[in-house]
Formats: sequence, C-alpha cells, structure tokens
Amino acid sequence: MISLNIEKTFGFISKEKVSAYDAEVKAAQEMLEKGTGKGNDFLGWLHLPSFISKEHLAELNATAKVLRDNCEVVIIAGIGGSYLGARAVIEALSNSFTWLQDKKTAPVMIYAGHNISEDYLYELTEYLKDKKFGVINISKSGTTTETALAFRLLKKQCEDQRGKETAKQVIVAVTDAKKGAARVTADKEGYKTFIIPDNVGGRFSVLTPVGLLPIAVAGFDIEQLVAGAADMEKACGADVPFAENPAAIYAATRNELYRSGKKIEILVNFCPKLHYVSEWWKQLYGESEGKDNKGIFPASVDFSTDLHSMGQWIQEGERSIFETVISLDKVDHKLEVPFDEANLDGLNFLAGKRVDEVNKMAELGTQLAHVDGGVPNMRIVLPSLNEYNIGGLLYFFEKACGISGYLLGVNPFNQPGVEAYKKNMFALLDKPGYEEESKAIRAKL
Ligand code: PA5
Repeated sequence: MISLNIEKTFGFISKEKVSAYDAEVKAAQEMLEKGTGKGNDFLGWLHLPSFISKEHLAELNATAKVLRDNCEVVIIAGIGGSYLGARAVIEALSNSFTWLQDKKTAPVMIYAGHNISEDYLYELTEYLKDKKFGVINISKSGTTTETALAFRLLKKQCEDQRGKETAKQVIVAVTDAKKGAARVTADKEGYKTFIIPDNVGGRFSVLTPVGLLPIAVAGFDIEQLVAGAADMEKACGADVPFAENPAAIYAATRNELYRSGKKIEILVNFCPKLHYVSEWWKQLYGESEGKDNKGIFPASVDFSTDLHSMGQWIQEGERSIFETVISLDKVDHKLEVPFDEANLDGLNFLAGKRVDEVNKMAELGTQLAHVDGGVPNMRIVLPSLNEYNIGGLLYFFEKACGISGYLLGVNPFNQPGVEAYKKNMFALLDKPGYEEESKAIRAKL
C-alpha cells in the first residue's frame, strides 16, 4: 500500500497548521459521507471499490476474453475521464516494449476519440487495414464529438473488414443506461454494453467498466486492482484519524501550501510508465478544483527526462510551485552497469551498481536540490507497480480530491467550464440548433 511523507514541506508551512485542518477535513469527510455538499449527486465513486461484486468482475472478464480471443488490436475510443484512467493503468503495468514483439499475450491497445487530428485518424485507419481489430466505445453522454467522430470511422472500417456480424461481436459500448447516441447505436446494432452509473462522473470512473473493461482486455487483474482500491477506501475512511489518514493529510497539505501562495502543484515521477497516471491525475484535480476563479494548477513532469527541460524553471523560476513525487520503491527487473576496461565514458564509478540505484540517487538529489531552491516537496511511496498498488493509488487520489475540493470551497464534481469551447465549435460548424450562436460568433470574427 502507498505511504505519504510530507516532512519536506515543513520548511515552508508548519506541521501545526497542517494538523489544524483536522476539523475542516472532518467536515469535508462528513459532506462526502452524508451527501450534504455541493455535487452530491456524483458521489457514486466514494464506496465503489467495496461495492463491486465478483459477478460484475466476472462479466467484465468474460467480455474481455471475447475481445482478447478475436482481436489483434483493440481501440479504446474515449476522451478525458472516458479513457485516461484505463490508459494510466495499462501503461503503468505494461512492458514498455511488448507492443513491438510478434507474439503477444494481449491485443495491442490503441487510443482514439481523444483528439480531432485528421492525420492521427488517417494513420490509424491505415495501420488497422490488415488487422483484426475491435473497439470499445466509451462515452457517458454518448454525444462527445471527438469520440463519436472516431467511432463512426472505426465502426465502418470494422464492418467493412470483418463483416457486420463479426463486427458486432468485437464492438462493445460503455455508456449511459438509456440516453445518448452511443446507447441508441449499441441497442440498434446489438452490441454488448456496460453501463456507466449516473452518479459517477467521468474523471472518477476508472473503477467502473470505463476503466475496468479495457484494463481486463489488456490482460491485467481487475480483481487485484479493485482489492487495492477497496483497502485504500478503508485506509482513507471518515473514521480514520487525521494523522493516520493519507487522503486527509494530502488534501490538507496541498490546501495549506495553496493558501501560503503555492499555486502550482507538479506531480513528479522517475518512471516513464507513470506518465499517464499523471495525465489522469491532472484531469482529476484540474476539472475538480479549477473553478470560481480559484484552484491549484496541476502540472506534471517525467524525471529525469524533464530535468533536462523543465529542471531549470523548477530550480530557479518563480517560487509559486510545490512538487508531489510518486516514488517507486521496487522495480521489477535487475540490470547492473557493466565494468568497461577502457572506461572511455568515465562511468566505471557506477560499475556493478543497479540502474535503479542511479535513478534513486537522481531522485534524492533532485528532492534535496528543489527543497533548497524553495520548492516544498511531498512524497508518495508506491511499493511496486502491480494492480493492487495502482488501484490503491488511484483511489487515494480520488478520495483526497473530494476532500480537497470541499476544503477549497468549490463543487468538486461538476465541470461547467468544459462546455464553453463546445458551444463555440458547434456554432462555427453550423450544428443544427446553434443558429443564434452561429450568427453571434461570426459577428465576432
Ligand atoms: O470528467 C469528465 O466528465 C469528462 O472528462 C468526460 O469524461 C469527457 O468529457 C468525456 O465525456 P463522455 O464520457 O460523455 O464522452
């Protein structure tokens, strides 16, 4: 299970001030438990891990097996909360290079419907031309333009290449129980469907079929993922005292840092497999807290890669940032730096050391340098990359986000600001029903 260390924030904020959040956090926990806070119709994620049944997981695994048995490639069509959780888990747990191998135990997982790039979609359709592929179409509203557009292309190509009947076996919809175009299409075509519960918002949906189905297709153990989340649900429960509750401490510390003038939180990893965990986290916190003209700006970096690009800014730029480092304790493989007689590269001082030891010293050295440079540092220790630990990490961030949003005084569960670009785009594209907006926007151009 993960652990949290906030010691390296204490030169910037006081331990006493963090501890003083106890009462505020209790009130936030109570709002979540009793459903008395803003956005209380979107609390379905709160006790989701402990409510997921064995039967539900078995149904997901059975559908995953159909896709695994019949597809070389599976496309996850979705955007935002409808793909980031699945991608975060799959990339964290996958071999970095298996997709290059000929013999794979799981289909190649590819993502679409998260951009409107013609080149991306063209190149995808080219890549799929000689492949047996299936599609998981994920959209809660069932009307998101990016996803619907990609799915229209993929559905046609799948039917053209595999025939309408086979296509029906390898296209699965994850959507609303009744509403939306994705539901209408799935019902008409007879696709297997899974429901996204009404009371779970996109960015909190990784433990619904939105995340679980693709993760199972990719060959990972969703029972372990849910078990890790369920244990974290207990560890972060409303009955766990503040001083022992990681979600409470994380939420309190980041709010105290924010109140002290640190407006940007950078999520840091030293393992490239965690890149998409950061992407998922940015959506979770950005959409939950960035409203009413307030909220910490969530940013992320992959170290040590980005130490060679963003390191200068972090070390000496404006002192408005703090870092939260996801520190991977144990790596899966062993690789030692070899001894070299000629030592032309001067690296023999590392000979015999594990590569991970070098990485760990880069991590420690970075933490000390950044704290010295005025950057408060939190550290989340992830014992190793497996389903159980990742499930726990995801739930930890969700729970802390709910508490943190209430500490900030916003509704953490809506995202009204996301609509503004859509309205303009529809007006510019002359979508039926947007005639007035089209006129108004053209007058502005
Ligand atoms: O968190 C959210 O609600 C959003 O990121 C949505 O998940 C995203 O916009 C996709 O929406 P939908 O699932 O309705 O296609």
